[in-house]
Amino acid sequence: MIFTLTFASCQQKKNLDEIDKQVESLLGRMTIQEKIGQLVQKNGDHPNLDELIRNGNIGSVLNQVDPDEVLRIQKIAVEESRLEIPLLIGRDVIHGFRTIFPIPLGQAASWNVDLVEQAARVAAIEATSQGVRWSFAPMIDVTRDPRWGRIAESFGEDHFLNGVFGAAIVRGFQDDDLSNPKSLAACTKHFAAYGWAEGGRDYNTANISDNDLYDIILPPFKMCIDAGAASIMTAFNEINGIPATGHVPLLRDLLRNEWGYNGVLLSDWESVTQMVVHGYTPNHKESASKAMQATVDMEMASTAYETYLLELIKEGAISEKLIDDAVKRILRLKFELGLFENPYAHMGDFPELLNDDHLKVAKKLAQESVVMLKNEGSLPISNKVKRIAVIGPLADAPHDQLGTWIFDGKKEDAITPLQSLREIAREKGIEIFYHRALELSRSINIQNKQGIIRDVNRSDLVLLFLGEESILSGESHCLANIDLQGGQIELAEVVATAGKPVVAIIMAGRPVTFEAIEPILDAILYAWHPGTMAGPALADLLFGKVSPSGKLPVTFPWHVGQIPIYYNHKNTGKPASNETWERLHDIPAEAPQLSIGNTSHYLDYGFEPMYHFGYGLSYSTFEISDIKIQRNQLQVDDVLKVSVKLKNTGNRKAAEVVQLYTRQLFGSRTRPVKELRAFEKVLLAPGEEKEVVFQINTRALGFHNPDMKFVVEPGQYHLWVGNCSQSGVKLEFEIVK
Ligand code: NOJ
Repeated sequence: MIFTLTFASCQQKKNLDEIDKQVESLLGRMTIQEKIGQLVQKNGDHPNLDELIRNGNIGSVLNQVDPDEVLRIQKIAVEESRLEIPLLIGRDVIHGFRTIFPIPLGQAASWNVDLVEQAARVAAIEATSQGVRWSFAPMIDVTRDPRWGRIAESFGEDHFLNGVFGAAIVRGFQDDDLSNPKSLAACTKHFAAYGWAEGGRDYNTANISDNDLYDIILPPFKMCIDAGAASIMTAFNEINGIPATGHVPLLRDLLRNEWGYNGVLLSDWESVTQMVVHGYTPNHKESASKAMQATVDMEMASTAYETYLLELIKEGAISEKLIDDAVKRILRLKFELGLFENPYAHMGDFPELLNDDHLKVAKKLAQESVVMLKNEGSLPISNKVKRIAVIGPLADAPHDQLGTWIFDGKKEDAITPLQSLREIAREKGIEIFYHRALELSRSINIQNKQGIIRDVNRSDLVLLFLGEESILSGESHCLANIDLQGGQIELAEVVATAGKPVVAIIMAGRPVTFEAIEPILDAILYAWHPGTMAGPALADLLFGKVSPSGKLPVTFPWHVGQIPIYYNHKNTGKPASNETWERLHDIPAEAPQLSIGNTSHYLDYGFEPMYHFGYGLSYSTFEISDIKIQRNQLQVDDVLKVSVKLKNTGNRKAAEVVQLYTRQLFGSRTRPVKELRAFEKVLLAPGEEKEVVFQINTRALGFHNPDMKFVVEPGQYHLWVGNCSQSGVKLEFEIVK
């Protein structure tokens, strides 16, 4: 399937009229207290949970996944509360429930949209079997900052990729029919600009230009809404001075009124009351008022709604209609999920958690998420290799390979690379020498250096498992220095002294920097945090049973100081090139200021990243040829049709990602040097050739002009089709009036 931006209308939900009637009739029977109760979400360990549910004071519970407990509290709601309204049980099902898939950033590196959708389906089946019907995912916060810990949870730096994968998760969770007991309502988050935190420090201020907000941050949300996303979560951050949870222009005016979004809008954890801390409201009462006016339907964890909404209505500060609208949206979702007829999960109707089919999807996605960054010939491991030194803190770290946000994943289920390598080694008669070397990825002291050197010396190959523990990325786990932590650089240097080929397998929640050791590594597999099936997935890749096919969803800097560095940047008036970059060490002493060139680069780190967006190697080779644009003069709303031939010119079955980028050469605002518009991942046998056809509505090339109008401007465009953001044959086309 080819992925391009579509402009589908919102999914038509089934029986909407019927549901609306049921909602109206139920609303008519509710007291104002019961209405406010629906707007309240409490954590599963709240001390008065039962009583609050019984009295109709809670609409949703999060973080309760013990199926017996879920059943018990749901029974209280349905059998003991006056109006018998079921609870929405919510959970962060971020990259799997019990079967853990790669972190979302790794999933994006697969560029396999169908596979990501399948994984979301598996997660939905597992979560709903325990009574969970609402997941706080996908997170589609575009970010250009690998210091930000939650980059792990995003689909990277590109808005189109975030939108495509976000929509895939929505489809996988919701299965086009929320009333299916195995469907999980999606919650697209965080609205908005949470990934724009200054300095990559979580929760920090987002100062963002209107055009980045409208053309980079918001489009993925629109794509998820078009895919039918049942709900949206607001963000913790402020956006240009207004906290996202009280942002009337963004939530009420844009999301509700302009986009017509009528799904549930949920605050983030205590983000309603945090408006006081931000310095936006004087007290929690005013925060409740602001959030309600912004049309936030449900408050997560804090207590401003339950404490102040009644008072605010009585004072006339907010109208009861605002409350009614919010209640209706929540009730509608409960009806759509079929919770009124079918409030309990019947576990017998579900497949087992962690069954073979689920693990198969987890293994495939882990495999496809791995990006081969370098290979000077050591991979795949040849038959001649008889002794392998397996070294490093991530080779046998079942907890850490799962990554961040794995509330329901268990390290006992995880198969580590060491386990899988030992299994293969037994079959193939290979000897393995294992050294953890560093207790944790951030430990300084290398254990048993002598033993390591001895075993490396008697090995044919070193597999060096480096990276980050899972706790080093994720919410509020940001880093100012993204170099490989602790003694890892030293470890690589020690290992390399023996002169044996060193293959690094890096497992991390973000792009890490490792400039110091890149030259001494013979091959590099970037595996992110691959999840439960990391071991079998990596073993197949290392031994060549499958070829790596991942591509980077984010630019890798050489040095943290280059951030932000991203592929879809602007050209500037003085772009740098290798010819114009003045290198620090070449500058003569006392050179006059203007003698050393004036282009946009760093004297020490130039202008290029270590690895570009869209980059990734394969064991095979591919040729892209015969690129044709069907018509190179188009009008707004025409379809740009581009065909190419892709041939596997190597001798292994392998997949390649064909990527299409465009550039508008000039416009009423300057345009990025390249923007991803479409892609397709194609699996080919050796020698096989396939035609790939992209069809892109020219509306997908539009942007917001200086008057903040969405426009597709007539003019000259370039187009590239290649296998990375920096490769590809360039063609031209024109949009005419
Ligand atoms: C805070 C996080 O920002 C949000 O993404 C998550 O869904 C909630 N906590 C609930 O765990």
